[in-house]
Amino acid sequence: MLVEYSSPNMARRMHVGHIRSTIIGQALANIMAALGYRVISDSHIGDWGKNFGILLTAIRHEGRPTGNDEAALAILEGLYARYNRLAEEEATIDQEARDWSLRLEQGDPEALDLWRWIVGLTLSVNAPLYTRLGVRFDTIHGESFFNDKMAPIVAEALKQGVATRTDGGAVVVTLPEQPTFLLQRSDGGTLYHTRDAATIAFREEEYRPTAIIYVVDGRQELHFRQLFALMRALGHAREIALVHVSFGVVIGPDGRPLAARRGNMVYLQALLNEAHTRARAIADASSPHLPEVEREAIAEAVGVGAVIYNDLHQDPRRTIALDWDQMLALQGNSAPYIQYMHARCRSILRRATLTDIGSGDPSLLTHPAETALLKALALMPNAVRAVGTRYTAAALAEWCYETARATATFYRDCPTLTAPTPEVRAARLRLVAAMAQGLASGLHLLGIAAPDQL
Ligand code: ARG
Repeated sequence: MLVEYSSPNMARRMHVGHIRSTIIGQALANIMAALGYRVISDSHIGDWGKNFGILLTAIRHEGRPTGNDEAALAILEGLYARYNRLAEEEATIDQEARDWSLRLEQGDPEALDLWRWIVGLTLSVNAPLYTRLGVRFDTIHGESFFNDKMAPIVAEALKQGVATRTDGGAVVVTLPEQPTFLLQRSDGGTLYHTRDAATIAFREEEYRPTAIIYVVDGRQELHFRQLFALMRALGHAREIALVHVSFGVVIGPDGRPLAARRGNMVYLQALLNEAHTRARAIADASSPHLPEVEREAIAEAVGVGAVIYNDLHQDPRRTIALDWDQMLALQGNSAPYIQYMHARCRSILRRATLTDIGSGDPSLLTHPAETALLKALALMPNAVRAVGTRYTAAALAEWCYETARATATFYRDCPTLTAPTPEVRAARLRLVAAMAQGLASGLHLLGIAAPDQL
């Protein structure tokens, strides 16, 4: 199964808009692998196209930003915005951008060198963010990878009569029940659809997957509908499920969409740092006895976990809000609550001996709080399978939450270490060990850490 996610454009910092694709995609990749699929995770980065002509022009005029960090990327973003405007106003700049774009396509060494530097800078700035989020890709086949793989698809579409060449020379696709779209411009230039069509042909040939999953925001729904219809019309991907996992935008605390042009954009790095700082304050207040390094590690696990969970437990189609208090609440439907229940299991287990844990007789678990937990455990495979058929991790997130709640009830009603008899104590310890394992597995599948103490 090929799962494509994150796929950011180059020469830009990742912002909250990218976090959804990244998080949903990684959770799906984890869960599909747990279901037994061989998963190929791929980030289809935006590393080609006419914006590079603008970028190269800007760099030639203003020089390469120094440094190799987020600040350098922010400078590139600014340069791009400025020269994009300039190209609209000044014909000479526009012409320069076209020339650079062409030089890049023709493999001019200077253009390629700058292009490589831009892509390298972006990837290296993004890498630590992916590490923090537990995200990894098997391949990063960006748009440029498909640059020399598009001609056959255009030819095929023409030959089969799925596309036609207009008098002006452009290649147009007309399919029943779809707005028409271009596969080639009159100057021979290719488009987003062309690159994506070539991508499907490549994946089909290279991997023969059961399914190709695209985790891309809802504004691209029409693009994927047209793309899939085109490939079907051409007789491609006959035995491959083509799935667009679509999701809604992230809105700020003020209820308004976040956008750079509105000046309220939240960048991914800042978002993770903010989550970390807030979680650190909670760790300092609730576990002052722990050593500094441990509180720091807990802050990262809880902060990043809260961000991930906030995204996964909601219906992906809906707009989600950044509500810090709810995200980091130790009570309620949040990652910290589930992590906390897991850590409580671990804390009990630390105080017991191994033989105690292994020897329990489950038939002694007859209290309603105990049977509720046994049922929850039995339901875990269903929750994981539901993710595999519905392509949303929400079912597993909900399982984690419901199970954490059942664990809380068990703690309240059924003492473990001070159980009435040694036999009941052993049976409960075995249950607690199973719960710890279930909650940790559930969290890990979602991409969330499960620290031993909070
Ligand atoms: N780079 C695109 C963007 O940032 C997303 C790419 C989605 N994937 C695809 N195969 N078209 O909007």
